Amino acid sequence: MKIRVIMLSLMILLVSGGVIAANQPTEEPYDEDEYGPAEPIVWTKPLKSVTFSHKTHTMDAGFECDDCHDELFEMEAGAAQELDDFTMASFSEGNYCGACHDGSTAFAADSQCGSCHTEPEETIVWTKPLKSVSFSHETHTADAGFACEDCHDELFTMEAGAAQELDDFTMASFSEGNYCGACHDGSTAFAADTQCGSCHTAPEQTIVWTKPVKAVIFEHATHTEDMGLDCESCHDELFVMRIGAAEQQEDFTMKSLYAGNYCGACHDGSTAFASDTRCTSCHIGVRGYARMSGAAEEGASTGSGH
Ligand code: HEC
Ligand code: HEC
Ligand code: HEC
Ligand code: HEC
Ligand code: HEC
Ligand code: HEC
Ligand code: HEC
Ligand code: HEC
Ligand code: HEC
Repeated sequence: MKIRVIMLSLMILLVSGGVIAANQPTEEPYDEDEYGPAEPIVWTKPLKSVTFSHKTHTMDAGFECDDCHDELFEMEAGAAQELDDFTMASFSEGNYCGACHDGSTAFAADSQCGSCHTEPEETIVWTKPLKSVSFSHETHTADAGFACEDCHDELFTMEAGAAQELDDFTMASFSEGNYCGACHDGSTAFAADTQCGSCHTAPEQTIVWTKPVKAVIFEHATHTEDMGLDCESCHDELFVMRIGAAEQQEDFTMKSLYAGNYCGACHDGSTAFASDTRCTSCHIGVRGYARMSGAAEEGASTGSGH
């Protein structure tokens, strides 16, 4: 009795194992003559993001060549992308992919973006208003688990750089719940008015002010990397995060520094050397220029203690 049960389950195992094993190698070989080119079609315009597979449409979904050729598509890879109306808007009017991807023959073209589009691997880097922020898709899709539709098209157009052309792509607008601020509100994700350094990188170049006097320099690296100060110790209370903002202020003067404003908030003789010492550490003269080009700061630091 027991043995028969064991035998039976063994047989089931063997049979099902056999079926699985037999299934794989006998999968129908792809025949290009019958089903169209095996090589996927990849367009580069208007976006470089969509791939089309013949196999899915012919072998799997059962379409004939003339369901698409030549009324919807020419038999030439890349032909469609030369046409101005090879766009989502045109699909929703029933053209190209939209002839079938209308929500009845096949899933609608204005849904499931990720079925047709792949996300960019490279990070998106904006150059306006600041050149400082980058955005990673992977962090948001693979890591945080969002779907394309959580951002596209309501929060962001699917086109790198589109947002930076809009006047309201700013921190103020985020705090009203737009763009990144739709989630970075302190509940779905960390708030946009905190952790500047998670989204922004500090400029690498030396900042040089020319007003009221030429020329005062400031280096982020010495303050952030060397001293370990976080962005919030200066932004936005002491300094707006925009080069040149401070020099537009009438009180960007030594008197104001001595009173504890701007650099003087730290350069007070306790947190950092005082603003009324080591003039040439901040004001570049002959030594300053040498220092900027990497020379050692010989003798410039009276009282710095090193
Ligand atoms: C569901 C629609 C669809 C069906 C069905 C279809 N094709 Fe295509 N085919 C396309 C699209 C889209 C392109 C790319 C056109 C473009 O980029 O403008 C294409 C391009 C081609 C190309 C050009 C490839 C190249 O590298 O230049 C060939 C050849 C081709 N198809 C053959 C076939 C054959 C053969 C069949 C039937 C067995 C078939 N197609 C069925 C949509 C389809
Ligand atoms: C002739 C009708 C037709 C046309 C034209 C067509 N499709 Fe499809 N497509 C289908 C059907 C039917 C399916 C399978 C059913 C479904 O998934 O809704 C499908 C499935 C797909 C899938 C899903 C594949 C998978 O892995 O499940 C993708 C991606 C796709 N189509 C992309 C496109 C793109 C891109 C175009 C235009 C270049 C296009 N299709 C044009 C009918 C069509
Ligand atoms: C059925 C396949 C399919 C689906 C689903 C789809 N797209 Fe597209 N999309 C395409 C094709 C094909 C192109 C034209 C080729 C290219 O730009 O690479 C395109 C181009 C675009 C473009 C550039 C052209 C234009 O219309 O401005 C944007 C933006 C876009 N898609 C956004 C989206 C968004 C957002 C979604 C989801 C809501 C989506 N797409 C879903 C196939 C699809
Ligand atoms: C958390 C928000 C978010 C999610 C989720 C998201 N994206 Fe994006 N995507 C963006 C932003 C932001 C941009 C840049 C828009 C801009 O600069 O205006 C962008 C741009 C794009 C671009 C344009 C790239 C280029 O080179 O022009 C493509 C393609 C794209 N996304 C595809 C996807 C796909 C596919 C998914 C889902 C798998 C997805 N995105 C999910 C935010 C998102
Ligand atoms: C759909 C919601 C959503 C949108 C829109 C969104 N984010 Fe996020 N983001 C998240 C979530 C959730 C996390 C992970 C949780 C957290 O860190 O609080 C995250 C994490 C991040 C991180 C941290 C990544 C890491 O390595 O820890 C950065 C940086 C970031 N987002 C930048 C942006 C920028 C820039 C934008 C706008 C262009 C944006 N996000 C738009 C939801 C979103
Ligand atoms: C969730 C990501 C995120 C965080 C956190 C963040 N920013 Fe931004 N910030 C952006 C994006 C995106 C832009 C617009 C693109 C650009 O200018 O590069 C921007 C632009 C700016 C701008 C120029 C536009 C404007 O609003 O005037 C300033 C200034 C700025 N951020 C300051 C800050 C400061 C200060 C902090 C920390 C208190 C901070 N940001 C935190 C994403 C973020
Ligand atoms: C010790 C003070 C200090 C710290 C700490 C600091 N910054 Fe700054 N930052 C400044 C000053 C000063 C300016 C120039 C402001 C001006 O000219 O009005 C500036 C300007 C900027 C700008 C504007 C760049 C442009 O192109 O306009 C960005 C971006 C920036 N900081 C990012 C950061 C980030 C990210 C961190 C943290 C990693 C950080 N800062 C930490 C003082 C600081
Ligand atoms: C949040 C505090 C803080 C602010 C604000 C600040 N600094 Fe500093 N700074 C430091 C600290 C800490 C050091 C290192 C300690 C020291 O040298 O006394 C330092 C060092 C320096 C150095 C010497 C760097 C070196 O290579 O040895 C210079 C130059 C300098 N700061 C200029 C400035 C200028 C100009 C400003 C205003 C635009 C400024 N700092 C604003 C904290 C600050
Ligand atoms: C911690 C950095 C720092 C140190 C140290 C420093 N300054 Fe300044 N100084 C500045 C900044 C920032 C400005 C305003 C920006 C500009 O004029 O380019 C400024 C502006 C000035 C100005 C023009 C505005 C005004 O207040 O009249 C004079 C003059 C000046 N400094 C003299 C000096 C002298 C003399 C010393 C040494 C006793 C000195 N500074 C030390 C940062 C510094």
